[in-house]
Amino acid sequence: MSGHGQDTMRRPIRPSDPARPSDPTRPTDPARHSDPAWACDPYSDALRAGRGPLFLRRGDGWMLPLEVERWCARADEVDLQVLERCEGAVLDVGCGPGRLVAELAARGRPVLGVDVSRAAVARTRRLGGQALTRSVFEPLPGEGRWDTALLLDGNLGIGGDPAALLRRLAQLLCSGGLLIAETVPMDVDERAEVRLVSSAGPDVGAEAAFPWARLGTPALLRHARRLGWRAADQWTAGGRSFVALRARSTSSSAEPPNSRAVISSQRPRKPLADIPVADA
Ligand SMILES: C[S@@+](CC[C@H](N)C(=O)[O-])C[C@H]1O[C@@H](n2cnc3c(N)ncnc32)[C@H](O)[C@@H]1O
Repeated sequence: MSGHGQDTMRRPIRPSDPARPSDPTRPTDPARHSDPAWACDPYSDALRAGRGPLFLRRGDGWMLPLEVERWCARADEVDLQVLERCEGAVLDVGCGPGRLVAELAARGRPVLGVDVSRAAVARTRRLGGQALTRSVFEPLPGEGRWDTALLLDGNLGIGGDPAALLRRLAQLLCSGGLLIAETVPMDVDERAEVRLVSSAGPDVGAEAAFPWARLGTPALLRHARRLGWRAADQWTAGGRSFVALRARSTSSSAEPPNSRAVISSQRPRKPLADIPVADA
């Protein structure tokens, strides 16, 4: 069991496959990179329609409504405040349908979205953003050189193991790089097995369960400090809460140091903003 706070999830933590950094020598087969949980029909269908209902459902029946309509709309005022804080090249982890990537790209900022859902990546690209169909735990372009990483809209839950996710983010960011993470606006630190479901009705069991996490600001700060992150700021806006963290140092990177983050492709490397992203 994991968790404390008013609203803890009670199911056991299962070792999270996506949280294990994969072998970087492995061929980059997008099918193998896709997390079947989020590549599922209910999520793809919701993104294509631009609306829910869509929920994360725990084994005990508790349902977390997902804000598909907001994710599929343009960046709102609260989002824009977050984007104002971004520095340099930005990696949007779990970019979903891409409103933040599109907004940053429209402002001329180098930005790449990463998401395991093909429907999310397709929609991000349609909005004019660059995105890769890939797990954050798979090898990514510009490792160790991203200036800012975003983990918004509940994405601290990715992989169901916040410490593993924070360690991975530290690998991706440059030394002193900025992580902006959205937290649950209550004191909660929980992990659970969940399913993506499109209705509140009986569980037909069609979708696989996967590990997910929810963290309030105190819990995120606890995890982050233990891992060497420095708390830079925290704020709330429009009923949402955020934390800005600074990475302590850059971990190993196969790519040369002292150059800005770029998106790799089959072509020779160019500045990020000029390079189309190649994947499936
Ligand atoms: C709670 S939703 C947030 C959506 C989003 N931030 C937006 O703006 O629409 C979580 C997102 O993370 C993606 N995701 C889940 N696991 C992932 C992983 N291991 N790597 C990258 N993205 C992942 C999902 O496909 C989904 O789009």
